Amino acid sequence: MADRTTELIDDLLLRREEAVRLAEKRAAERQHPKGKLTARERIALLTDPGSFVEIDEFARHGAGPLGDGLVAGHATVDGRPICVHAQDFSVFGGSLGEASGAKVNKVMDLATRTGVPVVGINDGGGARIQEGVTSLARYAELAVRHTNASGVIPQISLILGPCAGGAVYAPALTDFTVVVDKLSQMVVTGPDVLRAATGEEITLDDLGGARVNATVSGNAHYLATDEADAIDWVKTLLGYLPANNRDSAPEYDDDTAPEVTASDLELNRIVPDGANQGYDMTDVLARVVDDGDLLQVHGAFAPNIICAFARVGGRSVGVVANQPRFGAGAIDIDASEKAARFVRFCDAFNLPLLTFADVPGYLPGLDQERGGIIRRGAKLIYAYAEATVPKVTVVVRKAYGGGYAVMGSKHLGADVNLAWPTARIAVVGPEGTVQVLHRRELAALSGAERAARERELIARHQDSPYPAAERGYVDSVIEPARTRLAVTAALRALRGKTASVPARKHGNIPL
Ligand code: HXC
Repeated sequence: MADRTTELIDDLLLRREEAVRLAEKRAAERQHPKGKLTARERIALLTDPGSFVEIDEFARHGAGPLGDGLVAGHATVDGRPICVHAQDFSVFGGSLGEASGAKVNKVMDLATRTGVPVVGINDGGGARIQEGVTSLARYAELAVRHTNASGVIPQISLILGPCAGGAVYAPALTDFTVVVDKLSQMVVTGPDVLRAATGEEITLDDLGGARVNATVSGNAHYLATDEADAIDWVKTLLGYLPANNRDSAPEYDDDTAPEVTASDLELNRIVPDGANQGYDMTDVLARVVDDGDLLQVHGAFAPNIICAFARVGGRSVGVVANQPRFGAGAIDIDASEKAARFVRFCDAFNLPLLTFADVPGYLPGLDQERGGIIRRGAKLIYAYAEATVPKVTVVVRKAYGGGYAVMGSKHLGADVNLAWPTARIAVVGPEGTVQVLHRRELAALSGAERAARERELIARHQDSPYPAAERGYVDSVIEPARTRLAVTAALRALRGKTASVPARKHGNIPL
């Protein structure tokens, strides 16, 4: 009896040798010369040592290779469970076929059922051409799973090689996409097809390289320097997030100083006197959040707005802030879409929103109007208005017009609104006010006389936070140095916030 068991165990070990060790050896031979890691090496870098449990390593299509070009399973990251799947480029170019498609869908189902984040590693040619419509079916079924898991579990995509054709829509449906400089490519149509179809000549890197996707199209949320950096970013990101929409994010002891510190006092000197002078909003944020740590999302895209995960008093928050260093911090189409998606993610996963406003308004311009700033700029308003998580806003300097309203104003449902004495809250800035309200008077003047009168009127129309404070739209005007303490106290007060939303199938965010 025991001999038979021994035989069967030996047989199992042989099969596993083929499915894992030999497959891994072949994969290393093909990936390493290109400076790329194998699927299992990538999973090992991401997950806690020894925690990865592979599933379906014996799955195959017909007489094809065991595993079918995809490595999948569950593991832990910093002791917290996740599900993971990774395309193995050494097998049919990492393309997704019937068996590998079933595997990825199975692990997606497991993640959703158990309420844990899923990380997908893409390095492949998309739908497997030989398997025709079956591979398309698996991809479409995967799209349904990503959609149903949206707002239920965090979904993260690493692009560590090509991700081409309709296959790019799988990561595009997830919450965060990470690319690696000079390694990742994401395109719906490659350069060869483009040349044949339209005659356009462009390199793959210019069309859909990592840098383009992280800075221009906004398809990628982080541009990593190498694979290790990309994986590291994902691990840090996971540390800020709850496992699912019913869970809370990991919490740490609040060991922040209970009194105003030297670093806090520096906030009293950060905002320049000139209304149009720039400064770096991250210098403000770093003095408010724990240890000055900000994990920026979309850091290389729409830099006029900052979206970042951070902690305040040991608890995760989502930070949204205008960045006066770029485009005066005005909200353009890209900034609206970037921040709207971030706000909605935070709301879905119970992360309070901390907003820092210094915004001259929505960006004017023909490009913006024709590009749809009305409908696309509406996304950020919609996102803030529908968010029911605790919302705390600090007006640092300008909050003009639509910019005032959208950046976490009381009227969109913010719970605690604070302003610095440097805040300028108005429909338009002093220059604009004078041009509209005193146009006729100024038109009657000319030369030096007109300029002098204009200066006088502008000086008279200086904006402040007090009209808003008088009406309770700002709960308190605070000394900048007290911001960290005030924000910490506000978030503490809001911990028990509950809010209800009207019953409906779903809203219809302007898209
Ligand atoms: C089957 C594929 C494949 C695919 C690559 N291979 N893509 N096999 N189906 N889709 C194989 C190649 O034949 C080759 O096999 C090996 O993988 C490596 O490919 P290379 O071309 O040699 O590598 P490279 O030069 O690095 O180019 C990688 C690539 C290119 C950019 C991914 O292979 C490519 O463009 N592939 C086709 C992409 C594509 O059109 N996919 C369909 C997308 S539509 P050998 O045996 O020679 O090593 C889609 C619909 C999804 O995905 C629907 C979503 C809803």
